[in-house]
Amino acid sequence: MPTPHISAGPDDFAPAVLMPGDPRRAERIAHALMPDARLVTDVRGMLGFTGTVEVDGVAHPLSVMGSGMGQPSATIYATELFREYGVQRIIRVGTCGGIAEGVQVGDVIIGTGAHTDSSMNQARVPGINFSAVADLELAAAAWGAREKVTEGTVHAGPVVSRDHFYWAVPGMVDGLRAHGTLGVEMEAAALYGVANEFGRQALAVLTVSDHLVDGSADMSAQERETRFGGALALALAAATC
Ligand code: HPA
Repeated sequence: MPTPHISAGPDDFAPAVLMPGDPRRAERIAHALMPDARLVTDVRGMLGFTGTVEVDGVAHPLSVMGSGMGQPSATIYATELFREYGVQRIIRVGTCGGIAEGVQVGDVIIGTGAHTDSSMNQARVPGINFSAVADLELAAAAWGAREKVTEGTVHAGPVVSRDHFYWAVPGMVDGLRAHGTLGVEMEAAALYGVANEFGRQALAVLTVSDHLVDGSADMSAQERETRFGGALALALAAATC
């Protein structure tokens, strides 16, 4: 049963997986949400946990696993979880850089679609510019839970998933901003593509950790931890809907 990148047994994953980029964050989320969290995989240090989470008095099975950084890494784990472990939905919980004017550090973005400069989805359908869109049921559940976010504003709309973190073509950010793109991150477009490939569900819920245009102060490492709660509440609502 183990796959090249996941050492779990056949029934070790829950149908819903929360997926932060950082495996250590996966560990912290798992132990914060699930008193019975148990480690199910640790290949290459990409930790995955499964347990039971209680939401509004109802217990739900849940897994939490890191994706690593970037679309190739996230694609490997999402593919193996959907194809080999029967996972039905993956909700990315991560950070993003703000792009849109109305978006501020500390806000939460529900990524309803994801533009990309990656070739990963371009290679899927010959002659087609693939549209990477989130699952509507998951996005609606996250949006419907937005009153649970007590700090910052919740936005829903397109993000961009880039391959480069540090380098951008001149004019790219301005163009994205002019077309209503809310933020930039590095995994959602590929995750949505894999979900389409397997007929499963995916969503990205992102905390804005810095802003590419407006120069507002970046979040400190500590703030990234404490201000993560809003995005996690929305992701949980999607995971358990
Ligand atoms: N790009 C730029 N800024 C960011 C990102 C990113 O992928 N994630 C968080 N801040």
